[in-house]
Amino acid sequence: MRLPGPARSALDRLPFGSPAVTSASDAAAGANRRVLITGGASGFGLALATAFLERGDRVIVTDLAPTDERPAAVPADASYLRLDVRSEDEWRAARAEVERIWGGVDVVVNNAGIAQGGRIDLLTEEDWRLITDINLLGVARGCRTFAPMLKAQGSGRIVNTASLAGLVHPPSMSSYTAVKAAVVAISESLRWELEPYGVDVSVICPSFFRTNLAASLNASDPAAAEFAGKLIDRSGRSADQVAAEAMRALDAGTFLVLPDGEARRSYRAKHFLPVAYTRIMRAMGAKAAETARAGDAGPGDVGAGTTGTSR
Ligand SMILES: NC(=O)c1ccc[n+]([C@@H]2O[C@H](COP(=O)([O-])OP(=O)(O)OC[C@H]3O[C@@H](n4cnc5c(N)ncnc54)[C@H](O)[C@@H]3O)[C@@H](O)[C@H]2O)c1
Repeated sequence: MRLPGPARSALDRLPFGSPAVTSASDAAAGANRRVLITGGASGFGLALATAFLERGDRVIVTDLAPTDERPAAVPADASYLRLDVRSEDEWRAARAEVERIWGGVDVVVNNAGIAQGGRIDLLTEEDWRLITDINLLGVARGCRTFAPMLKAQGSGRIVNTASLAGLVHPPSMSSYTAVKAAVVAISESLRWELEPYGVDVSVICPSFFRTNLAASLNASDPAAAEFAGKLIDRSGRSADQVAAEAMRALDAGTFLVLPDGEARRSYRAKHFLPVAYTRIMRAMGAKAAETARAGDAGPGDVGAGTTGTSR
């Protein structure tokens, strides 16, 4: 989202960026925690796995590759397990493995996800079902699978990877914004639900950054997918940078983690500069419609290159 310079600096000075600090039961770095991460063979999940390992934690990385075809990118000191977050059976198997090797878990990171871009009239029912199954139900399954273990322990943290798109909702990406907003909502509900049991919850909402995410973009609206892919691939932020900021916030026991300046500014603009926010979003929608009408179908690019939308 492109904001004028004075508005940017005013938003940067506002007193909160990652509001709502919870207890910090798992805050101690190097605490030898037991950490399970979904979608951990690439991008943000891999960067988080590496960061946890560097702190002295024990990590099980899970992803789509079969267990005996461990992806080369997975760090040597992490365990690896296949876990398609769409599969109840594989979630049960992951819980059994965690019980077998660790007897419990301290941090469950529901991170696996795909990208999707598209105008509402071009996104298909199949697109909606796929992104819901992975990005929303995949998170819900992870929470359902491990909540009983965490509650029985009376300790631990669930960390859900949402997106800035779960907090601010630009045009031409309604399926993605919808499921990410739902992940923010699940996280807040569980925060209040699990707090009495000594279990903390965090939700991470980054703006776009460079990973392999663009490879998962759908083909229903090629122009929108291409635009979204450019925002990811051309971002100035790396997964390691975003993970480092996110880890600092997790160490502080933060609930809502906004791990980059773009995410913090956009979130604050929605709340504190509603007129400017509305103007920018309206301009993005108008540009998208204009481009589509001109036959060169594609979403608006207001702010692209400097700030852009979120993934
Ligand atoms: N990259 C960004 O700009 C950005 C911004 C905000 C949020 N996010 C979120 O970060 C998370 C990680 O994405 P990333 O950017 O690292 O992308 P990525 O493609 O590099 O990594 C995603 C990982 O999830 C795995 N995955 C996909 N479907 C799966 C399934 N059904 N079961 C298990 N694993 C599955 C992939 O194999 C891959 O390893 C996603 O939830 C994404 O929505 C990314």
